[in-house]
Amino acid sequence: MPKIYEAYLNAMNQGKEHGVSSQDIRVLIAHKMGYAEPIDTLFHKDDEFTKIQEFERDFAKLIQGMPVEYVINEATFLHTKLYVDQRVLIPRMETQELIANLSEKVVDYYDPRNYLVVADIGTGSGAILCALRSLFPNWLLVGSDVSKGALEVARKNIKDYNVNATLLEGKSLQPYIDAKMNLDIIISNPPYILNKEEVQDSVKDYEPEGALYLTPENNVYEDIFKNYKKVKKGSLLMAFEIGYDLEDMLTKMMKEYLEDYEYEFIKDLNGLTRFLFVFCR
Ligand SMILES: C[S@@+](CC[C@H](N)C(=O)[O-])C[C@H]1O[C@@H](n2cnc3c(N)ncnc32)[C@H](O)[C@@H]1O
Repeated sequence: MPKIYEAYLNAMNQGKEHGVSSQDIRVLIAHKMGYAEPIDTLFHKDDEFTKIQEFERDFAKLIQGMPVEYVINEATFLHTKLYVDQRVLIPRMETQELIANLSEKVVDYYDPRNYLVVADIGTGSGAILCALRSLFPNWLLVGSDVSKGALEVARKNIKDYNVNATLLEGKSLQPYIDAKMNLDIIISNPPYILNKEEVQDSVKDYEPEGALYLTPENNVYEDIFKNYKKVKKGSLLMAFEIGYDLEDMLTKMMKEYLEDYEYEFIKDLNGLTRFLFVFCR
């Protein structure tokens, strides 16, 4: 049986020409051996790799290009290890930034200790719901998605983490309109990719298409802007993750559909315009 470091070095050599990163190999080893963090592979480097066969089976998936999160069915989002599979998008770093921005901005408009009604549209794995629950224990959280498969994953995550949230199935604002809800906050990381050419193969091949592309038939931003009055009683804060190339389109759309509003586009840590906050009085 090889030692951990022998298997690691061997995998590094094999993985090099297929673009497998050293971090992904460490994540896989740590997962197989039950270590808390990938860095623990270093501390256990002289241990016997008792799970070498399982590792080799899953390493073959990494070589084929499958994202490591789908290989191990786990993605870390703001310290929480969420269950993921190919029915949901792997939660991204930028979405953690969206949550951080919301935490900062919300106090400009509401007292966040209140029982605010908050909708996460396109909840996917439920990552946003899980994060919001730990930050804002009083908020009344509702998540929705058009995908039944995604809702099954979200249901598992909110159950496993004891997150008190309601899940609804349906397109954009429709489930909230049907349930006659009055929302205080809408948060959404909807499909926002315009140009399919720009998408990496590992995303194109493995992540759900319905989570990725903004099309004339599925434009969640437009659906929300067109219908927001149906879920607004007092004021409404909307926090969106957006594609870096959507600023013009969204500015025009807001002008067309919204009344008595203020907005701000926010850049991410890479300097790209990736978030839009809109407040309707
Ligand atoms: C980019 S993923 C975001 C998933 C998760 N919120 C996150 O941030 O990791 C977009 C999600 O929106 C869902 N979706 C796509 N179109 C939708 C629509 N019109 N209404 C509601 N959900 C939609 C997809 O099924 C997918 O789960």
